[in-house]
Amino acid sequence: MLPCINWLQPFLALLSSTLLTRGHNCPSSCLCPDHHTVDCQGQGLTSLPSPIPLDVRRLLLSDNWIPWIPSDFLVLYSDLVYLDLRNNSLSVLEPGTLSTSSRLVFLDLGSNNLTEIQSGTFVESRSLIKLRLGNNPYLSLVEEDAFLGLTSLRELELERNGLQGLDVGVLEPLTSLRVVRLEGNPWVCNCHFAKLFVWLTENCHKLPMGMEGLQCSLPMDGSLMSLSLLSEASFRECRGYLSLTDILIVIFSGISVSVVAIIASFFLASMVHCFQRLGKAGQADEEEGND
Ligand SMILES: *[C@@H]1O[C@H](CO)[C@@H](O)[C@H](O)[C@H]1NC(C)=O
Ligand SMILES: *[C@@H]1O[C@H](CO)[C@@H](O)[C@H](O)[C@H]1NC(C)=O
Repeated sequence: MLPCINWLQPFLALLSSTLLTRGHNCPSSCLCPDHHTVDCQGQGLTSLPSPIPLDVRRLLLSDNWIPWIPSDFLVLYSDLVYLDLRNNSLSVLEPGTLSTSSRLVFLDLGSNNLTEIQSGTFVESRSLIKLRLGNNPYLSLVEEDAFLGLTSLRELELERNGLQGLDVGVLEPLTSLRVVRLEGNPWVCNCHFAKLFVWLTENCHKLPMGMEGLQCSLPMDGSLMSLSLLSEASFRECRGYLSLTDILIVIFSGISVSVVAIIASFFLASMVHCFQRLGKAGQADEEEGND
């Protein structure tokens, strides 16, 4: 009996390893160097490879022609830690696609064709440390709450995009930020830029090339100017500058303050009046009791 088992052992091992490799399901035209890595770089793919093992942690898809990722992609591959989609043809991120990626640490969407980053794109990406969004030449809008939830993010790349301006509220929620790349964008140093300029001045140690590395065009004549040559005084004219919404807020807060004041004084007056009447009635009662 025993010799028989000894003879069977290598055969069983071979059988189970073949089954395991098959069970791993490496997509054709990709390499799977270890159990958690799928490497499909530069394979001319025009869509996501299939089947990708559900327990994949590192997915390398750079240098392909992938135009789209389905919005449930990260629901399916919830173990994903490292996702490289650099140099593909992505033009939109479906809302919610990245909002479930709570384990993702590294995401590269650089060198694609993205045009905007919408509010709430990354809400649950609490583990994300490095986010690369550079070299998307048509990326001209990053909405104010686009990076909300990225509390671990240390490195943000937005270089060589099409940004003329950026709401400073985009950067403010990034409490762990160490490095931000913003160079090579067509920044315009108008009054909308003033708040970003103040933020950049206070955070210039986070810019790899400092303020010298950033240029903006002046609204007067379009001439290019290094940010290091500007100061907050350059935006002095903007200080008295109020947008229409600011003006409306000021007017309406003025009106509401006066309304509240009128109501409050009316209320106080009636209270005083009430107490006076109560006092008189009490006195009358006392006098009646004395009689
Ligand atoms: C982008 O990918 C294409 C092929 O998919 C490749 O030919 C090209 O060299 C890549 N570009 C860069 C900058 O790596
Ligand atoms: C990238 O987007 C622009 C404008 O949105 C479009 O004109 C261009 O054809 C796109 N390029 C690719 C390679 O998809």
